[in-house]
Amino acid sequence: MTNSTAGTTEVSGRDVSGRELAAFETMHRLLSGVWVARLIHAIAELGVADALPLDTPALVADIAAATGTDPDALHRVLRTAAAFGVFAADPDGRYLHTELSRLLRGDEPNSIRNAALIACADWQWQAWARLTDGIRSGRSAFADAFGKDMWAYFAEDDPAAGAVFQQAMADLATMTDRALASAVDLADAETVIDVGGGHGHFIAALAERNPDIEAVLFESEATLAGITEKPGAAAPARHFATRAGDFREAIDYTADIYLLKQVIHLFDDEMSVRVLRNCAASAKPGARIIVIERIITDGPESVPAKLFDMEMFVVQSQGRERTEREFAELFERAGLRPSEVTVTPSGMCLIEAIV
Ligand SMILES: C[S@@+](CC[C@H](N)C(=O)[O-])C[C@H]1O[C@@H](n2cnc3c(N)ncnc32)[C@H](O)[C@@H]1O
Repeated sequence: MTNSTAGTTEVSGRDVSGRELAAFETMHRLLSGVWVARLIHAIAELGVADALPLDTPALVADIAAATGTDPDALHRVLRTAAAFGVFAADPDGRYLHTELSRLLRGDEPNSIRNAALIACADWQWQAWARLTDGIRSGRSAFADAFGKDMWAYFAEDDPAAGAVFQQAMADLATMTDRALASAVDLADAETVIDVGGGHGHFIAALAERNPDIEAVLFESEATLAGITEKPGAAAPARHFATRAGDFREAIDYTADIYLLKQVIHLFDDEMSVRVLRNCAASAKPGARIIVIERIITDGPESVPAKLFDMEMFVVQSQGRERTEREFAELFERAGLRPSEVTVTPSGMCLIEAIV
């Protein structure tokens, strides 16, 4: 029985202060984050956002028919999602798109549908289920669940999941690449190489802004083979090249600037130093190496970096996010001189070193 008087609430015969209740509510909200993420994932998986017309409200029954779902279950799902701003209901009980729900459409320029798919994909779910054991052992929960690392799992067991993962990474990068490209000062650089540059969107964005540079995308053969849209096609760069290779072995291209965007966070310190040394080995004297990552700070402001660090711990065998000091130590171990750190509006940081 609950009985509320000014400032306190009686729960089972004991007074509970407003502060205690607020803490309880906050903790409950944090715990229910898993339900919200799973709900958005299911909406993406079912193609609900794609089935709802962009500018016309629709009845739940019609959306259910288009998505092959149960109307009552979908009604409850949409009502809950709308409480978080994902879809909205009009006074007639029809649903319409919001700024957030549009992002779940496959045809949105800023679509986050693939990211929603991987957020609670079965492989993530199974790996995160072993987090407690992983914290005890210090080992990757993913390897514990699947007996191999995530890349081997995608290649050997589930290439379709791997393709969604790669596409999600490319989608997320598209959102930040242009903003990041404007933050990179190319100064007098002639040749810029993006090491592990994925599908080439970032180096293409840089080339677009700096048509006089020689732009190079260095990637694994497998990733280059999977690229359907030729990188750099839209960029009027003087020269745009792709180079296949393994950055753990060597980077056989001499450049003035080496970009490593969301690459170092895949690796432990040993491998990170090795990749940085491989950049330095092929660099011109005075060349710049720019690592682009989130930075963990002591304050409360680096929540995304800290959460990504957890995701790296769970699904990547050796990956981690780092503090500024830890990046400087990696540079020093690789024989590089740490220079500037620039925080960009996206939260990604440019962490530079000189060869
Ligand atoms: C996390 S993704 C980052 C992609 C891109 N830089 C971005 O920010 O979107 C890491 C990239 O490194 C590439 N990669 C991983 N191991 C590699 C290796 N040994 N040699 C070359 N590329 C590699 C992967 O193919 C993948 O595209």
